[in-house]
Amino acid sequence: MSRTLRSLLFVPQLPLARAPRRPHLSPRRFTMSAPKAPTPKAPTPASVSSLRVSYSRAPALDEAMLPPAPFALFAAWFEQAKASGDPEPNAMCLATASPDARPSARMVLLKAFDDNGFVWYTNYGSRKAAQLADNPFAALTFWWPSLERSVRIEGKVDRVPTEESDAYFKSRPPASRLGAWASDQSKPVGERHVVEERWNGLVDDHLDEKGGLKKEVERPPQWGGFRLVPDRVEFWKGREARLHDRIVYELGENEDWTPSEELKGSSRWTKTRLQP
Ligand SMILES: Cc1cc2nc3c(=O)[nH]c(=O)nc-3n(C[C@H](O)[C@H](O)[C@H](O)COP(=O)(O)O)c2cc1C
Repeated sequence: MSRTLRSLLFVPQLPLARAPRRPHLSPRRFTMSAPKAPTPKAPTPASVSSLRVSYSRAPALDEAMLPPAPFALFAAWFEQAKASGDPEPNAMCLATASPDARPSARMVLLKAFDDNGFVWYTNYGSRKAAQLADNPFAALTFWWPSLERSVRIEGKVDRVPTEESDAYFKSRPPASRLGAWASDQSKPVGERHVVEERWNGLVDDHLDEKGGLKKEVERPPQWGGFRLVPDRVEFWKGREARLHDRIVYELGENEDWTPSEELKGSSRWTKTRLQP
């Protein structure tokens, strides 16, 4: 590992305690409705406007220390986010837009990344998938509060090859695999029990008493992965007095460039500091 990356990985004030892992829900039939939560009190305007955090954690984001392309830096920050105790460091906000440029955003989970892009899984019949079919450009945003860091990624999206979706689907726990069959994501449903009854039928057909699989669950054809291939990646570090650090990597036009040139220190990516 280079000295640059090692120094990027050094975060002295990381909390030592790991957040407890949430246990997997063992697959079960639904028999009763969820308990009702008390009605929350509306916050006063002052209690909202006075919420304020000052960002002061080291290290700052110094462009002299940055790698030529954004992927190694993302990998370093992601590893630090995993170690920081954040229970879901792979949660990211995915923004898509309709053909008439109306944006919509929702959280999804990053399931793979490398120099080729950032992958998540979803239902190909969902609202996000419909928007991506019409307009393949999208944006992802990560926020890692305990590191005071955010990453914004923009680019073009395509479906991952079916073999890749199959391989990931097989790695999921039985409940998640059945869940993919139980939900016609983003479509209206009159009442929750319709989905629960569909789920109960799937559990009866596929799982034994201990929650183990008694029958293989294939990937639903309408479920699979998307990969965003980035052309813009911004790294953001909170700093005091709102004078944050922002470095954006943007992909240049040189189509002849090959990754081996990166080893010689050249890159298709340009780096620019932005005002906070
Ligand atoms: C932390 C978090 C992670 C989520 N991960 C996923 C995911 O990986 N895939 C997915 O389809 N939905 C995920 N969801 C649900 C989505 O936010 C959203 O409700 C769903 O995908 C339907 O969105 P759409 O109607 O815009 O397509 C997640 C929600 C949260 C809060």
